[in-house]
Amino acid sequence: MTAQSLSEMAVEVLNTADGRAKTALSRAHAKAWFAARAAGDEISIGRAIPPDRPARPDRPELLDPRNVPRRRPGSEKGRIAILHAVAHIELNAVDLHWDIIARFANVPMPVGYFDDWVKAADEESNHFNLICDCLEANGSFYGDLPAHAGMWRAAEDTAEDFMGRLAVVPMVLEARGLDVTPGMIEIFERAGDEKSVAAMKVIYAEEVGHVAYGSKWFHFLCGRHDADPKDAFHDLVRRYFHGPLKPPFNEEKRAEAGLPPDFYWPLTVSSPVKN
Ligand SMILES: [Fe+2]
Ligand SMILES: [Fe+2]
Repeated sequence: MTAQSLSEMAVEVLNTADGRAKTALSRAHAKAWFAARAAGDEISIGRAIPPDRPARPDRPELLDPRNVPRRRPGSEKGRIAILHAVAHIELNAVDLHWDIIARFANVPMPVGYFDDWVKAADEESNHFNLICDCLEANGSFYGDLPAHAGMWRAAEDTAEDFMGRLAVVPMVLEARGLDVTPGMIEIFERAGDEKSVAAMKVIYAEEVGHVAYGSKWFHFLCGRHDADPKDAFHDLVRRYFHGPLKPPFNEEKRAEAGLPPDFYWPLTVSSPVKN
């Protein structure tokens, strides 16, 4: 039995700066949550105020995306840059999943909702560790290169809108991951980097689940508020996501995750088409 509530656990992860320390704590809290669930001795959801921005290590240096140097993907340096960018995305994903738990803890939700995001946070923690291992096997490490400064923007923009958060983070940003990961796997296959291929295949398989959790709980809330899911999704993405969605889409994996084409295709134009 633990005295710490799930929200307190989430805030503790968010306030941990070092990547490996953050993911170790995240995995320990996930393990405690599921052990308590299995024992029928449940951890309370509680309330704790998440920080506006999660703690981050001193390195990597965070730059405006326009100033992050681009490298040829075929070169070794290019592949290290891809791994570094993925590690940065995974670390942000750990924080995003714990943040949604703590930030919207005032909204009553079924316990399955918390199970899903704790599991997703645990998986993201594993993804970060796997990619860091690949960076290290290639003579680099997380913090070695500059990284994208804008990663927390979607969280800030939707800090007060629960459905907006579900629409933009799992159903737009994580769904985008499904579109681009097969191309990255190919780059590492061509280079014969089996370790990175294996890590990216784990990520690819598990991210379908995260998009599906987003879609499931978005639809649940639409039911609660008597809203049409497709219309609500279009309104929220146009309000909180900057710019149109970019094809090509991974239609097959998106469908598997509960995202039908009529959700995302209309958003490839930046404003609604009036007829
Ligand atoms: Fe991930
Ligand atoms: Fe994810």
